[in-house]
Amino acid sequence: MGNVVVVGSQWGDEGKGKIVDWLSERADVVVRFQGGHNAGHTLVIDGVSYKLSLLPSGVVRSGKLSVIGNGVVFDPHAFVAERKRLEAQGVSISPASLRIADNASLILSLHRELDATRENNAGTGTKIGTTGRGIGPAYEDKVGRRAIRVMDLAHPESLPERIERLLAHHNPLRRGLGQPEIDAATILEELTSVAHEITPFIDRVWRLLDQRRKAGDRILFEGAQGTLLDIDHGTYPFVTSSNTVAGQAAAGSGLGPSSLGFVLGITKAYTTRVGEGPFPSEQDNEVGRFLGEKGREFGTVTGRKRRCGWFDAVLVRQAVALNGIHGLALTKLDVLDGLDEIKIVVGYRLDGTVIDYLPASLAEQRRIEPIYETLEGWKDTTAGARRWNDLPAQAVKYVRHIEELVEAPVTLLSTSPERDDTILVRDPFQD
Ligand code: IMP
Repeated sequence: MGNVVVVGSQWGDEGKGKIVDWLSERADVVVRFQGGHNAGHTLVIDGVSYKLSLLPSGVVRSGKLSVIGNGVVFDPHAFVAERKRLEAQGVSISPASLRIADNASLILSLHRELDATRENNAGTGTKIGTTGRGIGPAYEDKVGRRAIRVMDLAHPESLPERIERLLAHHNPLRRGLGQPEIDAATILEELTSVAHEITPFIDRVWRLLDQRRKAGDRILFEGAQGTLLDIDHGTYPFVTSSNTVAGQAAAGSGLGPSSLGFVLGITKAYTTRVGEGPFPSEQDNEVGRFLGEKGREFGTVTGRKRRCGWFDAVLVRQAVALNGIHGLALTKLDVLDGLDEIKIVVGYRLDGTVIDYLPASLAEQRRIEPIYETLEGWKDTTAGARRWNDLPAQAVKYVRHIEELVEAPVTLLSTSPERDDTILVRDPFQD
């Protein structure tokens, strides 16, 4: 199959960082295709920790080409700050190692402000719990056909017209929210002050990827967030504003879907979510606290405490179907070490009827009651295991049962944050 698409199969934070880093070592090109600097992961390479939000994981490894695709919403000031931070750690980010799609849409300060204002004004039940990065408002402008795009930075003569069009939408909106209007000169300054930092990286990414594909390069698509945060397929409206499913790797990069290859679904051995919204297997009790503390479940971008719960096989099976997942990378199994019993959601009860899917309606999502199966836990540790034989029998049973329930095999099992603490069943790039 050649190329690999990595997606989160739950609500994000499945531990994609370590897996993507592990795969990026084997890849020639690493591509982000959706989201923006709302993503966040920490890569640990030779004991040094690098925090990435916007940039593809390939940037920390020399000899890789990193690509920001058109499906990403790109904050030029966040880019400059992230680049500076990484360069201070000795990572060189040059136009030879990073290319940014000319047709990606920009995130501006007015998007961030709008994101914050809406969240602050929202009452209980309507607050999304966004990362506050302006992601949603930037995507709104993209589909509203008034976005300023990366390519406009290279064409300053076109900016006044683009800005006028944008402000014709935003100023009435701001007036309605009781905020001062913005003048065109302020936006022009925001863009022109940063344009020279971006223009050397601009490229026709669709063509670049087509060339790399024809040359036989291995391309890794690095998904952000998770399937249940997908704008169409997630727990709407408590979702992010992009498609996070594997199909978006094609639309969000310009490489045709027939070249996508192996779809790897990163899956945590239990469930977490940050922000608001339905979470059927949530354990707002001792179990949840145990998982949160042992799993160090705090957001990389916002530092927020993640909500924790049991593994939900219904949701992951749905994610397997939605993404066309060929195999799972199961992470954080060791967090379950020491529990007497472990539960798995195997179905839901909705108004007295048993269902095997997550309904699309929010009202129904709130009414469903999870049906649990209880498995015996294990006392020995799985942390650091590198062979199946190193795992306690009950842990192997748990993994095998998950495979059965979600209808996808485990391709990779991660047993600690260390990159070598991984049991590889099958190299996704080898197919
Ligand atoms: P936004 O993407 O900032 O608009 O936030 C929308 C929802 O997606 C919120 O519930 C966020 O907590 C969630 N979200 C966004 N990015 C991530 C991520 O990288 N991991 C987990 N949740 C995320």
